[in-house]
Amino acid sequence: MQDLRPIVRLLQNQRWTSGAEIGKITGCFGEDLEQAIAALKARGLPLEYQTERGYRLTSPAMLIDEERLTGLLQDAGLVSATRVSVVDAVDSTNSRLLDWAEPATLHGRVCVAEYQSDGRGRQGRPWFAAGYRNLTLSLAWRIEQDTTELSTVSLVGGLAVCDCLEDIGLSQVCLKWPNDVMSPVGKLAGILVETKSTGLEHLHVVIGIGINIHNASAVKARIEQPIADLGTLMGSKLDRTSLSAKLLSGLSCALERVNRSGFSDCAQKWNKRDAYMGCAVIGTIGDQKIQGQGLGVDDSGAYRVRDDRGRIHRLISGEVRLRRAADAPKADHRAKVKQSRA
Ligand code: BTN
Repeated sequence: MQDLRPIVRLLQNQRWTSGAEIGKITGCFGEDLEQAIAALKARGLPLEYQTERGYRLTSPAMLIDEERLTGLLQDAGLVSATRVSVVDAVDSTNSRLLDWAEPATLHGRVCVAEYQSDGRGRQGRPWFAAGYRNLTLSLAWRIEQDTTELSTVSLVGGLAVCDCLEDIGLSQVCLKWPNDVMSPVGKLAGILVETKSTGLEHLHVVIGIGINIHNASAVKARIEQPIADLGTLMGSKLDRTSLSAKLLSGLSCALERVNRSGFSDCAQKWNKRDAYMGCAVIGTIGDQKIQGQGLGVDDSGAYRVRDDRGRIHRLISGEVRLRRAADAPKADHRAKVKQSRA
């Protein structure tokens, strides 16, 4: 499929634009244009058509500007500054970097996509996001500390997203282990960390981040949990280019710190953002369920749950969710308690 961004660029001011005008400027006419418009709609772009007026966007969409993003990353002194590619559509930005043919140039490489046809989430789930109106990007990174647990990379990613969102003015952002970024109304962002075996001395990881900015109800209906949209929460037009730059610089700095000194410095920071600290939770590892109280992460990034007999369990993979009132002893459900050490 051709790059559809020239059409989006033409329509992004929300003005009615005739098919002939689109054809003249983008070179896409007739049947090709019809196909392109159908593809844009299928990607989730809110487009309207009237015979006598042509096409227009019913709500704003502003494309991510690769040149400006590169400039912003250069200004921030980032290793990735010269290795950013913003693409129109890709199956998954993570896959794009995992399949990268030259491992020696992978470190710091960034792929940002306006649309993912096969976005992937954790635990084999899909990641849905309307095209041109959300943020889907991946960063490849070389891990230098032998002791760095991969799970801690994803925790660091979650923290970087929270810090970035707070920086642009969003409050009450918290983390649900391992790395769901939550607002009081639902999930704002998710992180998928995958490894790339390069044959080089150091392990490379690909950190994929999806931030919900604007999703139509049709997209929301496909997602099995409540999701929050940054655009709605912030109530203003978000500049996805500068948001990407802020996120990538914060993330790179955090990853450099982890390469230097491991995760332990971040554990306390993560626990301050833990949505379930002190709450009655159920930790799930495969089929095993552990009921107890959420105690946050330890220095290796494992989530600790204290069961009703006082034993501390460390979850290394799996999920933690709130215990429903019916499952939990009334007195301690969602009660905040003092954190105790494992
Ligand atoms: C989750 O399940 O919460 C993780 C979602 C991760 C989605 C992002 S979007 C960019 C990158 N590419 C993918 O295919 N997935 C990640």
